Amino acid sequence: MTEKWTPQSWRNKPIVQVPTYPDQNGLEQAEAQLRTFPPLVFAGEARNLKQELAAVARGEAFLLQGGDCAESFAEFKPDNIRDTFRVLLQMAVVLTYGAKCPVVKVGRMAGQFAKPRSADTETIEGVELPSYRGDIINGMEFQPAARIPDPARMVQAYGQAASTLNLLRAFASGGYADLHHVHSWNLGFVSDSPQGERYQHIAEQISEALDFMEACGVGPASVGRLRTVNFYTSHEALLLAYEEALTRIDSTSGEWYDTSAHMLWIGDRTRQPDNAHLEYCRGVKNPIGVKCGPSLAPDELLRLIDILNPQNEAGRLTLICRFGADNVDKHLPQLIRAVEREGRTVVWSCDPMHGNTVKAEGGYKTRPFDRILAEVRQFFAVHQAEGTYAGGVHFEMTGQNVTECIGGAQAITEADLSDRYHTHCDPRLNASQALELAFLIAEGLKEERKRAAA
Ligand code: PEP
Ligand code: CO
Repeated sequence: MTEKWTPQSWRNKPIVQVPTYPDQNGLEQAEAQLRTFPPLVFAGEARNLKQELAAVARGEAFLLQGGDCAESFAEFKPDNIRDTFRVLLQMAVVLTYGAKCPVVKVGRMAGQFAKPRSADTETIEGVELPSYRGDIINGMEFQPAARIPDPARMVQAYGQAASTLNLLRAFASGGYADLHHVHSWNLGFVSDSPQGERYQHIAEQISEALDFMEACGVGPASVGRLRTVNFYTSHEALLLAYEEALTRIDSTSGEWYDTSAHMLWIGDRTRQPDNAHLEYCRGVKNPIGVKCGPSLAPDELLRLIDILNPQNEAGRLTLICRFGADNVDKHLPQLIRAVEREGRTVVWSCDPMHGNTVKAEGGYKTRPFDRILAEVRQFFAVHQAEGTYAGGVHFEMTGQNVTECIGGAQAITEADLSDRYHTHCDPRLNASQALELAFLIAEGLKEERKRAAA
């Protein structure tokens, strides 16, 4: 018998990676305030995403999930939101056009603030302070006061998420994402690169196809889908006090939803079956992701699936694999076989970022572009060998021209990292690297789909 779930039942379970707030009174006040705030998403939208993910699970669509490692209060600017959104649109165009396959678009945006950390403290020149855990919890500056968890930050994060989402909704349905503007999504610094030119070429072909369709009378008036885009939000459900406060009963279905985002995922460090994060996520009806790292054994994965998706609903569960380029072969086949053997329906997605982080000279954390690409290739190859569908990718990326990951056509070197290293946590692909990956993945996906059709 499973115990009764409530939005608070996670509080009776062991928990890791969440802060202890010294100011308990302030915490209760922040939670109480959040409980009175409007939901950020509507349950019906989360159900639509689930339907779209069900199509991915059937091999009929592809999932593109991406955005910041950590959103921050300092980088909260309309241009940043727009630029990340438009690179995601560009990548989606490349994938849709290249692979002739619908792309489900999910941002790591409008709520991706809280970070799990490998160590509880950070030491610089003999001074030890609590680790930075994301702007929703504490401040990044290496100062004792900044590192104290501050509950008021949850309220500020909600406000930023609400405005970010508002702008994303405006872009998605107000005309910006109209496929007729496919040319104008080519970002300034990307348009001069080989990827930018390649993109321009696709954009021209799409424009011609649109003209042709309009000449045939199948124009935007009859095909509304060309004018707007379905864009969803997601983040790691780490700071459960925040998630709980935004957990609401959907009046149309009577079911619980976490209204802080359409999709939530459980991180690789917080997926213990008996712990709080599993407990919280099992009870909300949103699509859920689970990060699968090298330490996840097949039996444990099956247990997680039982807990999170007991009805085996398509689109409910996405397994986001992040083994590291050299480890895919060692871990992925046995997980796939266990899932197949038990007849479980999941979306398989590849996060080629988190298993490929290295320390560069000068102490910068970076990720080599070729390792990122190698992990994606391995992921596709293993699925091909197992006869299963490589359904999606999950990137840390930004629309800005940052220098955080080395390599790619721009050939960013370790020495370049200090030029524009702006991330608040992990190194992100810049717009040009993200687009380059989309082209390379589109080729793999096209092959995969050809094989499946043969
Ligand atoms: C993340 O996605 O930012 C993250 C911390 O990933 P993981 O849980 O896979 O380490
Ligand atoms: Co990260």
